[in-house]
Amino acid sequence: MKTIEKNRKKGLAAVVLAAGKGTRMRSSVAKILHPLCGLPLGAWPIEAARAAGAKPIVVVVGHQAEEAGLALSKAAPDARLSFAVQEEQLGTGHAVMCARREIEASKAGRVLILCGDVPCLTGSTLSRLARAGEKADIALLTFEPAEPGRYGRIVRDERGRVTGIVEAADATAAQKKIREVNAGIYCMGTGFLLRALDGLTDDNAQGELYLTDLVELASKEGGKVTAVSAEEEEVQGVNDRVDLARAAKMLRARINDKLMRGGVSFEDPSATYVDAGVKIGADSMIAAGAHLIGETRLGTGVEIGPCAVVQNSHLQAGAVIKAHSVLDSATVEAGASVGPFARLRPGTVIGRKASVGNFVEVKNARLGEGAKSGHLTYLGDADIGPKANIGAGTITCNYDGKDKFRTKIGRGCFIGSNSALVAPVSIGKNGYVAAGSTITQDIPEGALGVARGRQRNIEGWTSRTKAKKISRPTPGPSRPARRKRRRS
Ligand code: UD1
Ligand code: MG
Repeated sequence: MKTIEKNRKKGLAAVVLAAGKGTRMRSSVAKILHPLCGLPLGAWPIEAARAAGAKPIVVVVGHQAEEAGLALSKAAPDARLSFAVQEEQLGTGHAVMCARREIEASKAGRVLILCGDVPCLTGSTLSRLARAGEKADIALLTFEPAEPGRYGRIVRDERGRVTGIVEAADATAAQKKIREVNAGIYCMGTGFLLRALDGLTDDNAQGELYLTDLVELASKEGGKVTAVSAEEEEVQGVNDRVDLARAAKMLRARINDKLMRGGVSFEDPSATYVDAGVKIGADSMIAAGAHLIGETRLGTGVEIGPCAVVQNSHLQAGAVIKAHSVLDSATVEAGASVGPFARLRPGTVIGRKASVGNFVEVKNARLGEGAKSGHLTYLGDADIGPKANIGAGTITCNYDGKDKFRTKIGRGCFIGSNSALVAPVSIGKNGYVAAGSTITQDIPEGALGVARGRQRNIEGWTSRTKAKKISRPTPGPSRPARRKRRRS
């Protein structure tokens, strides 16, 4: 008991087993790298371990180890991560052996061991397990699934004490009937773990080094094993894409519930897709079908219309994004309005109270405060001053087939409809462009640029044309007749 007390004082590390390929995903991508609500699958249990206070967190990687290391480090910047490589997947016990050096170096008294494919596991359940681990050599999460299937069965003695785990492949018919199963998530005393690992053998149906055998070893040497019960939906692993979709649904509900409790309204949370990293201010309204992706941040009172897709964008207080708009790496300042059916591409800034309407595409451009572009327009590589008004059908011609150039439109300018502004070109403050112009030269402040054919009206043209049509000679012979004539 004394050594167990010491464990508690010495802190908590974690090992996340993630070297497996995930054959049942039927994918060229390692299982832990599959995206799940904005994070790679493997980042979710890492975050749970971090929330439970584990540091360092040693991730055992194998398949696509390099990609996994990069993706997980990026996705879990707040966790103190280190990586151990398991070249060959010789079993869960062997995977932990591969992290031996990191476990020793951590000097932690207890180690949480969990799998990389249990994304729905919460920090609070892990904390509960870690607390049980303060007074045990092994504390493990168990649950009773509707279908025990491939899970390891928990074997208890007549006094109810856990004495071992039998893998489904090794279980007798009677053991297969045991309802309580192993979630594969443990908290072990470091001293016990490092010593006992050496006692594992691969004498079993799968010829693997089973981590689960440590339970029997602990029990046999009179150590303490504590089972902590967990909910199936939390500890269920992801093995295939059906499981992945189920996990996504659950995590989405958690994300949305948390946001709603923080003052955000959802028209239909079950039909709204918000990534884990998205932040939304109170009194924002999110319509059904919206996708809020990546590093998106919304201020207070933002409205997101039906089926809008907002990725890595920053929407300030009171911004309104109307139905079916698509935003990527854009900033929409306070009170501005976008859409419906607008597209904001990277580098776009829509200034305060500015508005961009339907079928307007903006890229690497800034619209100043109160500027307007209501309809059918392309604004690429442009600086548009405050209060400017961009008529329907305006195009900034930013590309000459080789290089990109900027268009500058000053404060209060008015660009008539269906104008092409051939960059580089600049229009001074309060300048006007006559509708239908193709502007290739700068327009000075306050001037009107007209660049189109001058209109002339031809009097009586209609009636003369009609008269010509009427006086046309009567039609010639029918087609077959003509052909016959040619042949003759
Ligand atoms: C394991 C448990 C089983 C438990 C189940 C819960 C063992 C022997 N069995 O079985 O009792 O009910 O989890 O889901 O531990 N991994 C490696 N390297 C390896 C093998 C596995 O990193 O050599 C990783 C996998 O990537 C995965 C995790 O360990 O994240 C679990 O491995 P898996 O093969 O799925 O174990 P199960 O057979 O499910
Ligand atoms: Mg498994």
